Formats: sequence, C-alpha cells, structure tokens
Amino acid sequence: MNDPTSLRDKIVGLSESSGRKSYYPMLQQKIRELQTEISERRRAENRLRETLERIARQQAAIAGISTHPDVFHGRLAEAAPMMTERTAHALDVARSSLWIMQGDRLCCMDKYDAPGDAHTSGQCLDCSKYPEYFDAIRKEAIVANEALEDPRTRSFSLKYLQAYGIAAMLDVPVLIDGELAAVICFEHVETPRIWQPDEVTFAGRIADQVALILGNQRRRLAEERLREAHTDLTRNFRFTEVLLDAIPIPLFYKNSDLRFLGCNRAFTELMGIDADEIQGRTSHDFWPDLAPSYEEQDRNLLNGAGRSTYEAKVRDKNGEFREVIFAKQVFFDERNRTDGIIGSFVDITERNRSEKESQRLRTLLSNIINSMPSMLIGVDADGRIAQWNQRAALVTGVDEEQARGRQLDQVVAWLSPEMRRIRQSIASKKPLFEGKIRRIEEGETIFEDVTIYPLITNGVDGAVIRIDDVTDKVRIEEVLVQSEKMLSVGGLAAGMAHEINNPLASIMGNAQVLETRLMQPLPQNTAAAQDAGITMEALRTYLNLRGIPKMIQSIRGSGAQAAQIVSNMLSFSRKSDSVLAPEDVRSLLDKTLELACTDYNLKKNYDFKKIRILREFDPDLPKIMGSSSKLQQVFLNLLRNGAEAMGEKSFPEGDGPRFILRAHRNPPWVRVEVEDNGPGLEESVRKRIFEPFFTTKPVDKGTGLGLSVSYFIITEEHCGMMSVQTAMGKWTRFIIDLPTAPEYK
Ligand SMILES: Nc1ncnc2c1ncn2[C@@H]1O[C@H](COP(=O)(O)OP(=O)(O)O)[C@@H](O)[C@H]1O
Ligand SMILES: [Mg+2]
Repeated sequence: MNDPTSLRDKIVGLSESSGRKSYYPMLQQKIRELQTEISERRRAENRLRETLERIARQQAAIAGISTHPDVFHGRLAEAAPMMTERTAHALDVARSSLWIMQGDRLCCMDKYDAPGDAHTSGQCLDCSKYPEYFDAIRKEAIVANEALEDPRTRSFSLKYLQAYGIAAMLDVPVLIDGELAAVICFEHVETPRIWQPDEVTFAGRIADQVALILGNQRRRLAEERLREAHTDLTRNFRFTEVLLDAIPIPLFYKNSDLRFLGCNRAFTELMGIDADEIQGRTSHDFWPDLAPSYEEQDRNLLNGAGRSTYEAKVRDKNGEFREVIFAKQVFFDERNRTDGIIGSFVDITERNRSEKESQRLRTLLSNIINSMPSMLIGVDADGRIAQWNQRAALVTGVDEEQARGRQLDQVVAWLSPEMRRIRQSIASKKPLFEGKIRRIEEGETIFEDVTIYPLITNGVDGAVIRIDDVTDKVRIEEVLVQSEKMLSVGGLAAGMAHEINNPLASIMGNAQVLETRLMQPLPQNTAAAQDAGITMEALRTYLNLRGIPKMIQSIRGSGAQAAQIVSNMLSFSRKSDSVLAPEDVRSLLDKTLELACTDYNLKKNYDFKKIRILREFDPDLPKIMGSSSKLQQVFLNLLRNGAEAMGEKSFPEGDGPRFILRAHRNPPWVRVEVEDNGPGLEESVRKRIFEPFFTTKPVDKGTGLGLSVSYFIITEEHCGMMSVQTAMGKWTRFIIDLPTAPEYK
C-alpha cells in the first residue's frame, strides 16, 4: 500500500488519459481516490507508529522490571507494586494486578489503579466459585475483548466488572510445573478493547518473569528446608549417638547383609571392639566359632520373625564366655523394606550363677527342712499354711501342694486348740512351748512337743510351728520311772518278803503241827491224852464243838495265801537262778491257755471257755531265750487280768469277750501281744499299771503284783521289753519283746 511505485503509476495513468477525453471529472475522481489513499496511508502509518511506540513501551517496561533489584533478588512482594505500575503504563490500562494462589484461593498481592495512582492488596477469590474462569486460566491466557460477554469472565460481571466499569480483560496465568501459581490481570475500562497480539505476548513475558521469581523462591525455600532437614538430621544423629552411648546395655546394628554398621560404648567396653573397627565387618571376623549361630538367628529375623529374644553366648574382650540374652529387632528403610538389625544383649552370667547358687541354697534349705525329724509348718498371720515339710506330709498324709494356703486347723485338726496360742505368739513375737501334748491316733497314744516360733523379721507376720513326736521319749521316761520304782519298791518288797518268810514258815509249820497233834490218832497223841486224863475222842468232840479244826484250816489257808504273796514279792529280788533256754512262745502261750482253763481263781469269776481266742502267729517264728515257767507266769497274769477286765464289761448283742494272741518276728526280738476287747485303761491307770501294789481291785481280789512281777520278769530276767497300749472302751494290748535265741538270729 505504501509502495511508492504504485502511486507513480497512478499519476502516470492520469497523464496518459488526459490527452484524449475531457479528463476533469476523471481527474477529480482520481484526486478523491488519491486523497482517500493518502489518508489511509496516513492512518496506517499512524497505526504503525503506535504499534512501534507500544512495543517500545513494552520493551522498556520489561527491561525496567527484569533489571530491578527486587526482581533480581526474587523479592516478589517488594517488586509487585513496581511491576503493576510499569505494566499498567506499558499496556495503557486502568488497572494492573498480580494475584498469587494460596491454597484454593487466588489472592491479590498488589493492584495498581492508574487513574487514581493508588495500590491495594489483600482481596481473595475462591477458585470453586468461578469454575469457568479458573478452568480457562489454568490452560492459557484469557483474552477477553468484551469481558461482560465472554463466557470465561462473565461470572464476575455484577460484583466486579460492572462495579469497576471493566469492559475488557487480559489475564495471563503463571504456571509452575503445570500448576497455576499466580495470575496477572489487566483491566481496561469503559469501552471494549481489542487486545493486540503484541500485548498478549507482553503479558505472557511478564508472567514468565513472575514464574521465574516464584520458581526461584520455591527452589530457595526447598534448599532452605533441605538445609534445615540436614541440620536436624545431624543433630538427631549426634543425639542418637550419645543416647546409644548413654545406654549401659551393649548395642550393635547390622545391615541386611549382616555387616556391622556400628555399636555403642557399652558394647566396646565389654567386647573390646569400637565402632570404627566393627563397621563393615561381620561376626565371622571377630568370633568365627560363634558367628554361624548368630547369623542363623539373624537370617530368621530378616526373613520374617521381626524381633526375637534368645539366650546365647558371647566372648568378651578377655576371651571369656558370657551367657547373655540377645534381643534383636529388624529396622526398616524409608520405603518400609527391612534394612538391618538392631541388637542388644544382657549379661546373665552373674544372674545365672546367683540363680544357680540360690537354687542350690533353696534345695539345701528344703533338704534340711525336709530331713528334719520334726514337723515344721510355716503359717502366716491368718493361720494359713505357707510351709510344709516332708515330715508334716508324712504324719498328716496331706502333701505340701494340698496343704499350702489352707487354714492350719483344717489340715491338722488336732492343732485347733493351739490356734489361739499361735496367734498370741505372733502378736507378742515370743516363742511358746507346750510339751507332751497327748493325742490318740488310730488307738495309739502319741505325745508331741509343740513349739511356736514367731517370725521376727520386720514386715512378715507369721510363725513356724515345730512339732516333735516325743512318744518314744515319754515311753522311755515312763520305763525309766517304772524300773526305778520297780527296783526301789520291788527291792523293799523282796526284803520284806524275806523277813516275813521266817515267821510265816513258823506260823504255817506250827499250824500244821497243831493240826497233826490235835486231830491225828498218833500213839504220841494218845499217850499224852491218857496222861492228861482225857481221850482223843473227847478232845476231838471238844475241838469240833468249838470249831477249832476250821480255824486251823483257815490259818493254813491264809498262810498259804500270804506265802503266795511273799513268793511273788520274792520275785523282785535281783538274784535270778532261773536258766534261760530256747523256747517257742507259741507253745508257751497254748500251755498257759490250758492252765487258765483249769485256773481255780479264774473259774470263780466266769467261764474262761466262753472267751474267744484268736491266734495270729508267724508260722516260722524263731525261738526266744527264756524261762518257760516264768513266762507262763507272765502270760497267765495277762490272761487273768484280761479275763477279769472283760468280765466287767457288758458287751452288745452278738459281741463277747475275746483275746487276740499274737507272736511275730520283730528282729532282733520276737514280739508277743495279748490283746483283750475289755474296757481299756484310763490314762491314770495306764501310767501306773506296772507299779508294784498298784491295783484298782478290792483288797481281797487284787494285790497289784501281777503286772509288776510280770514286768520284772520280762525286763530284768529276760532283758526284754514290756509295754501297754489301749483304747478306752475298746481294747487293751500288752506288748512283750523277747530276745531271739542266738541260733535263730
Ligand atoms: N487287761 C486289763 N484290762 C483292764 N485293766 C487291767 C488289765 N490288766 C490290768 N489292769 C489293771 O491293772 C491293775 C494292775 O493289775 P495287776 O498288776 O495284775 O494287779 P491286780 O490284778 O492284782 O489288780 C489292775 O487292778 C487293773 O486295774
Ligand atoms: Mg492281776
């Protein structure tokens, strides 16, 4: 259009045609055309100049912005007013603004109002409220020549566009990594405006500038964060190191190839290997003998166990083995893959040793307690059993497990009367003793000493009760007292018997002579009667009339009885002329039974044949050393006493008196027992039963010598033993142990 050639052509054309026709109208026409063309050219030139000027302004603005120190240093907030101002002038718009995405909102960092030459900021838009606008701006610049009509910007109309008189908008996005980070906004007011391509390009370049600053900012921020994270990490790492060293338990850590990564101080102190030495090495490098078992465990752990605790050995810096408990656990990397193992161990060598020692002590203690011949029972303050030794279990038949925790008087009924004293002892913390407590167990009398020792350790209330079976001791005491009495009283009796013997012999002898001389028709008697002037017949008549023969009989009878007593009393004299020979107690017992059946005294009281006799004899019973007559005397005493006692008892229907005769081996003794089912013995009787002259019978019936003599015969003359057991109302059993004859031993 502005080509100079075409203009010359037109002028030349005018001159050619003017020669032939009236050229004036044509000329006028041409001039008009020319004028139009000239004004068009001028307009075009103007436009061109404007465009050039615009571009110059834009370039000046870009140069000013990009070299500004705030932009150079990435200080967007400080640079924003300068940028909005320069761009507003460059594009010749009423307002220019810079908006930054903050979460879901787009907030105004700076807005420049050119007519008022004023800056504002702070306004925000919710992205969700203007979906058309934000969908569009996320993709590309919004070039809205008529903002009120444009579907992308229409939604702003009432509130914003009309309020501010905005007619055209040019908005460009600032995208970082494809994300909307900011928007730069140019608003033209009053009339619509056709945004020129160079203006859109200019806006885009400003957006690039902002993107650069924001990107730099982000990078700096990220770098800052990284630095901080690194500082944190270093601090954490140092802390962890100190933490690990502060833990007094040896710790170590390995990677998943089972190479050590490190260890703590406790580990170094015990094993003599420090963190630098151990790093990168494996167990094989230090403890080749132990390594296979360590690694087997480690591999199990890595293959899924996750954590484990087990006992094993380590070898310390002195080469000594230590028993330890390992606790191992895998650790994970940031993507949750197993990355290695953290391990620790506790040295239990000492603990094991002291455990063994205390186990040994416990065993020793319980051995001691259990081997005590006494019952030892520990009770707490409430009387519940805490300790129970073997003897206690044996005596009660209740084992420790059953006994523990139960009330003492429930387990040991015979101790219920003692409970009060036990509590008293615990309260006063003073031991209490009670001797020779008597109780009957399955018919046998048992004597026990009960001692209560309160626990005097602070904080523990309770007591240990010691129960000793002193039955044997009591028996021995009784026996000692018995033989003591026997010897003193017996000796006295024997001495008296000796003294009585002579006068008694004289009484008896003279009584017999008296009878002979008064009653027998002997020649000397007849001659003496004649000399006196009487006949023997007359004398006999007189004597009969006065009852003299009966008196003499009585003297002789009483004399015989006295002689019997004296002879019994004489048995106590120590000297024994009886010779001991091997005898079979079974046949002695049988002979005595025969004798008993014919026994006059016995028959008087009742029929011995009515008594049932049970024999319990060992078939191969050895013989004993004894005197048959003395032993028969003993057995007869026992049978007689038994028969008399059973005679006193009224038996229920279907039951009656019976003896059990027993003869058993009881090496080195043979044991003979005579048991009746009579009334039994009162304790007061039992205690004194072997005493000489002890009797419960009326004067003419008993002398109290039967058992004392028997006792003497057995213990003194046969070197045996004799005792009695009884259950009141049920039975009485005499027990005799006689020494086995030597050839049967
Ligand atoms: N089997 C028995 N059952 C009950 N009591 C007995 C028995 N044997 C002996 N006694 C008691 O022992 C006492 C002493 O007996 P013993 O020495 O034979 O004297 P005695 O028979 O002359 O009384 C008797 O009085 C009697 O009380
Ligand atoms: Mg008697």
